[in-house]
Amino acid sequence: MTSRSVSIVGRANNKTVELPIMSGTLGTDVIDIRALYRELGYFTFDPGYTATGSCQSKVTYIDGDEGVLLYRGYPIEQLAEHSDYMETCYLILFGELPNAEQKAKFVYDITHHTMLHDQITNIYRGFRRDAHPMAVMCGVVGALSAFYHDSIDIEDPWHRTVASYRMIAKMPTIAGWAYKYSMGQPFMYPRNDLDYASNFLRLCFAVPTEDFEVNPVLAKAMDLIFILHADHAQNASASTVRLAGSTGANPFACIAAGCAALWGPSHGGANEEVLKMLAEIGSADKVGDWVLKAKDPDDPFRLFGFGHRVYKNHDPRARVIQKACHEVLNELGLHDPLLEVAIALEKVALEDDYFVARRLYPNVDFYSGIILKAMGFPVSMFTALFAVGRTVGWIAQWNELIEDPSQKINRPRQLYTGPPQRDYVLLADRG
Ligand code: SDX
Repeated sequence: MTSRSVSIVGRANNKTVELPIMSGTLGTDVIDIRALYRELGYFTFDPGYTATGSCQSKVTYIDGDEGVLLYRGYPIEQLAEHSDYMETCYLILFGELPNAEQKAKFVYDITHHTMLHDQITNIYRGFRRDAHPMAVMCGVVGALSAFYHDSIDIEDPWHRTVASYRMIAKMPTIAGWAYKYSMGQPFMYPRNDLDYASNFLRLCFAVPTEDFEVNPVLAKAMDLIFILHADHAQNASASTVRLAGSTGANPFACIAAGCAALWGPSHGGANEEVLKMLAEIGSADKVGDWVLKAKDPDDPFRLFGFGHRVYKNHDPRARVIQKACHEVLNELGLHDPLLEVAIALEKVALEDDYFVARRLYPNVDFYSGIILKAMGFPVSMFTALFAVGRTVGWIAQWNELIEDPSQKINRPRQLYTGPPQRDYVLLADRG
């Protein structure tokens, strides 16, 4: 065994295989197990992929123990303070911060792809008005491949670029229209004289009967929330996009798959569940009872917005959002008792042995809902907003997958525990 490999001895055939150790730029080394089955006849077993790397990626780095999040090497705190979402999209897509000319061209191109094919309005009318916005997002995003045939050839780099720009540009319109449709209000059309976040707020909150002034405080907060949600390495929805992409599916189908995976309450659906949980707790003095429930192994209740597969320290995004929560509420002169419940809940949980022992900290979803509620969004729209911000990360990782020569169709193995082979029994012979 060398320092750059591990030896595994196969009990069945007493054969030894040397498996190479691979190192990245940062983070934990990996054991390349690709020879294991061929040499020793074993698969590995890792339900939930808790210790399994699925790919090499240059996009995002997370150090869960230190609470570090880097987009293409830049700390999320610095991007949150100095950058904006369009610049962050450019960085995540192309790997470098743009110069002034590159940024202006990118913003122009995205701005001029925000409209949807007009027949797509008919798809919305097929949904009930009370459909969950994520049901609409999954349907409409998947349907885009029926309208944009000139950007679905995954082997054509130009098609991939156009599809990437279209996805980033059109998600705010798709989400904004889902919100309008749920209220029975007419669709608003995107405006090319507004920045990305302002355009989205107008798509959601303006009505055709009067002018709409975007509140700069809310636009800044929206832009920040999009930055914080832009990518997060191999999370469940990004892995879903990669798995769909590994089959050669078109980019719109892959992003629709990402939307579906994000919807789950253990993932992007948690922000919606956090608000429901805080409302159900109701007041800071009831927090203790709910923490007891969350700790009870016989009670399925878990504190939404707490815990993370990777972060075993504070989620840096939660810290940024908590700070923004106070700023937005103060600047709007709003007082939300749920923020006090959240602060009390965080304090009790962070001092409780159960949470300390399991290294459970607030994650990105814990405070985001409070800002979104302050901005006027209904809880049902929270995950759709997460999907808008995350689309650039999904599409950047999809491009990385398509361009990775080592990638092949993702097809995990299993440990079969069903019945051994047996013969068919005719109906007449069954008891
Ligand atoms: C996101 O992966 C990403 O990067 C996701 C994301 C992104 O940007 O893409 O960061 C976005 O999805 C954030 C997570 C949002 N989800 C929630 O807030 C839902 C509540 N959290 C839990 O469901 C849970 O913490 C997960 C799903 C987030 C992580 O689950 P893991 O890593 O599988 O951990 P686990 O379930 O094995 O928990 C370990 C222990 C268990 O206790 P024991 O069996 O050891 O006694 O911690 C407990 C769990 O019961 N635990 C919790 C808890 N989370 C874990 N107990 C109470 N409340 C919680 N929230």
